[in-house]
Amino acid sequence: MRGLRPQAVAARIGEIAPRTAQFADQWPTGQDVEVLPPVRHALAEIGVRYLFSEDAPALLPFASQLFLAREVVVHPSRWVWPRWVPTPARRFRTRQQVAFVDALRPIVRRRRSSGRIGDDVLGQMLRPSSRYGLLPEEAILDSLPGITVATFETPSRAAGWILLHLAQYPQAAGRVAAEAALLPADPAATTSAHLDGLQYTQALVREVLRLHPPTWLLTRRATRQTQLADYTIDAGSTVLVCPYTAHRDAREHPEPDRFRPERWLDDSGSPTKPGVFLAFGTGPHACEGAALAMAMLTLMTAQTARLYHLSEPPGAEPGYRVTTLEGLATAGLHLRATLRS
Ligand code: HEM
Repeated sequence: MRGLRPQAVAARIGEIAPRTAQFADQWPTGQDVEVLPPVRHALAEIGVRYLFSEDAPALLPFASQLFLAREVVVHPSRWVWPRWVPTPARRFRTRQQVAFVDALRPIVRRRRSSGRIGDDVLGQMLRPSSRYGLLPEEAILDSLPGITVATFETPSRAAGWILLHLAQYPQAAGRVAAEAALLPADPAATTSAHLDGLQYTQALVREVLRLHPPTWLLTRRATRQTQLADYTIDAGSTVLVCPYTAHRDAREHPEPDRFRPERWLDDSGSPTKPGVFLAFGTGPHACEGAALAMAMLTLMTAQTARLYHLSEPPGAEPGYRVTTLEGLATAGLHLRATLRS
């Protein structure tokens, strides 16, 4: 998708950085805070703004409801209903999807009829492409609910793991803070060159995604009979690929269970070999938002570590539950921030 390509994201870093900085600035200090709701809110604002620019405020409330609807649908229930049964959760999801599309349709029509289609992701979708020509309105309206939620759903799960690691590895957090000190005082002045300078922070983000890939299971369907090592996979079979276990394979990731961001900075580091790091998937259906995700997460990590020491609540029990249903996540994560001197 054109508007999500790395060059497109690089040109818009100055729009992303102020909101991640605001997230960090507003963190209440000296108390245990539930982290994921404000993280999700900040990332949703960035994601929806990135897709729809000045039309974002009209769509943001519907985007949050879409997220909620997806959570409700995947929530375990006592019964496993066939896909066609309109359970209350599924009806709720359909209503939220319809509400989002109803809010989006007049925006699409207004942009098309006025000729001011914009340069954001929606604007790029409204332009004819060499591959697909001019997309029909329904194709645009069908794909955007999923893309909208994708801008903040998985990134907020990733952010939970990253902030937890800042709390658990104060030395690494200190290194991030030192790097972040070089960011401009005015976040709106942040450019892709500043982002590129956050080498260690980017390595830390990748290392957390290696250890805790939010999308820990991928599926593919074999289109024809395929031989894979000693296995024959019949046409039509579903193949499960588990990034979590692949990322802990010592042949590709020495000391695989160890949190070591430096492995991404070594020239000899293997994680950059194609197919070895699967947090964003691989092949033609790999994540289209990887560049946007890396930009949001790197900036949020750097700006938070620059201001605070994070710590976990005292006590033997962790302040979160690992959940796997909707993706690998730190449900209920609580952290405490104290100002760095
Ligand atoms: C840390 C954050 C993220 C992670 C870990 C992640 C992970 C993934 C993975 C693993 C896939 C591939 C699924 C597969 O191969 O079956 C995927 C697909 C996708 N992601 Fe992301 N994602 C993230 C953020 C984003 C963002 C910010 C967007 C922005 C819109 C996005 C948009 C998409 C889209 C559109 C696809 C579908 C690609 C296709 O089917 O052709 N993702 N993501």
